[in-house]
Amino acid sequence: MSTTSLTKEKSPIWHPFTQMKTAAPPLMVKGGDGVYLQLEDGRQIIDCISSWWVNIHGHSNEKIARAIYDQALTLEHVIFAGFTHEPAEKLAKRLLTHLPNSLSKIFYSDNGSTAVEVALKMVIQYWHNSGQARTRLIAFDGGYHGDTLGSMSVGRTAPFWEPFKSMMCAVDTVPFPTTWDADTQAEEREQESINCLRQLVEGNPSTYAAIIIEPLIQGAGGMRFCRPEFLQKLQKAAHELDILLIYDEVMTGFGRTGDWFACVKAQTTPDIVCLSKGITGGFLPLAVTVTSDKIFNGFYSDDVSKTFFHGHSYTANPLACAAALASMDILEQTTTSFMDAEKLNREIAAEYLESQKLIEHMRFCGTITAFEVTTSDGNNYFDQIGAVMRQKFLERGFLIRPLGNTLYLMPPYCLTNQQRLDIFANIADVIREIA
Ligand SMILES: Cc1ncc(COP(=O)(O)O)c(C=O)c1O
Repeated sequence: MSTTSLTKEKSPIWHPFTQMKTAAPPLMVKGGDGVYLQLEDGRQIIDCISSWWVNIHGHSNEKIARAIYDQALTLEHVIFAGFTHEPAEKLAKRLLTHLPNSLSKIFYSDNGSTAVEVALKMVIQYWHNSGQARTRLIAFDGGYHGDTLGSMSVGRTAPFWEPFKSMMCAVDTVPFPTTWDADTQAEEREQESINCLRQLVEGNPSTYAAIIIEPLIQGAGGMRFCRPEFLQKLQKAAHELDILLIYDEVMTGFGRTGDWFACVKAQTTPDIVCLSKGITGGFLPLAVTVTSDKIFNGFYSDDVSKTFFHGHSYTANPLACAAALASMDILEQTTTSFMDAEKLNREIAAEYLESQKLIEHMRFCGTITAFEVTTSDGNNYFDQIGAVMRQKFLERGFLIRPLGNTLYLMPPYCLTNQQRLDIFANIADVIREIA
């Protein structure tokens, strides 16, 4: 029997972010090769979103696969308290060479949510260790930081978390100054955000530990962009208000925004950066929370109670670190693949999408393109137009998962120009079909 035809009832698997009753049965994937996914029914589809934004070099990359194999024959795993190993040491040093100088310490974990959870625990304990009970946090409306309790708390405006609201950490939110191409009001929105932040912190001195932001792009919240200038203003305000600044670069890291990291592109230096997703090129789970000496020194003490008591069984897994090192090799050898992507996307979009009436708020940042498809029935995550477009793209051989009526592309960096053209041409056709 073909496994593609397995009904939902017959599979024991409960899938993530999926209403199991109403969702279509999942597609069986047999293999991956570069930007392509091969389905069991013989179809080949282009992965235009790098799966869940992780496969930055496409699928089944041979160099990364070999690095994992070699590492598995040497050391597959070891407890990371009291022991260390070469892949983790090498990766930590290598990551720091691409981040601002003031970031100097790497704390390993294994997914984006825990990278954020670690950051939140660090900032709260940082103040605790210095004798201050600063237990409130500030986040941006529309942010998404993961689905553990702390990360849900700082993403509290997402539509998913209602059952957990009473259990959440103390978080206040400020508006995210979302912007797009040809927007004329970006500065006003930025000023409003900074004013709200100042009001909150000045009205409640010594209360807030930190502010967290997805720099340049809020991902799951709808691919909402802000300007690098805003991040510079935010850094200045956080500094003046004496609160710590956390960048959640789980999605924006490793070339996505057209530079190695959003903090580098925006010429800003947060106190903490969270990284995951693209770190291993999509092969294995791994995450890091990168901190400055200032944060690290807040824990560095003869007093055992000042220790950061946090760690996971698979912390700094050597196979994942080896994959990440191989991925860094590829990134370093092919920087133009992510640095030139925005220019190419802009040129092709101008040709195929500019005349489309249903498109609003066109925006580009590095390898990411996003826009809204305007509909009559409101714009939110549960907007049906997203599901309709997703199905139409799939029928044409493209994996694109709109967020409500927000259509975005986040393809692997090995995409060829012909494939890029095909994607935009098909988007134009699908939008014409639904118009
Ligand atoms: C900005 C951001 N932070 C954190 C997360 C959570 O990462 P993970 O799904 O690996 O837990 C995500 C996931 O989409 C994300 O986009």
